[in-house]
Amino acid sequence: MLRLRTLAPVAALALLSACGHGMYGQGRGPGMGPGAGPGPGAGPMYPGAQAVAMLQPTQGNATAGTVRFEQHRHAVMVFARVTGLKPNQEHGFHVHEKGDCSSPDGMSAGGHFNPTGKPHGHFSGTERHAGDMPNLRADANGVAETRFMMTGMEVGTGGATDIVGKGLIVHVNPDDYTSQPTGNAGGRLACAVIQKS
Ligand code: CU
Ligand code: ZN
Repeated sequence: MLRLRTLAPVAALALLSACGHGMYGQGRGPGMGPGAGPGPGAGPMYPGAQAVAMLQPTQGNATAGTVRFEQHRHAVMVFARVTGLKPNQEHGFHVHEKGDCSSPDGMSAGGHFNPTGKPHGHFSGTERHAGDMPNLRADANGVAETRFMMTGMEVGTGGATDIVGKGLIVHVNPDDYTSQPTGNAGGRLACAVIQKS
């Protein structure tokens, strides 16, 4: 019984992972080459292209984590594990326009990644910044572990909405998905540069 309890979470994770990879991988032909219409990006889309961001705490904070971005045919799958958050609280989470974490407060990453010139908005809509993602929700231990799909961004295409080389920020407060231009998410707890992997 003890053995089963130990194995169960691992099996669940493996299943989740298999679902993610299979979501757009089945029942479709290979006709997604250059010119097949992958979307607004300039470059060809490569399903399976991946990027990673290693979040480092800004000055005076302890938030850190790893976020992976995986290109699927019609969306980008985001896998995040972030620690050192405020327990049981939501934290704004965005791709920012500059891959620059050099300033101690993370402000060097600039504003939200917004290649299409839209207002800030809810991640599920189209009238929003490309970098507007769901809030991270911390558990009682200050850990957020999540996965979600994002449209409006690409990994490694070199197009306008490619997130490689951009910044990634975790905020002190939740994003209200409404206030302009930041969602009123407050200061910056952690910063990373999104890198091709
Ligand atoms: Cu942000
Ligand atoms: Zn935004």
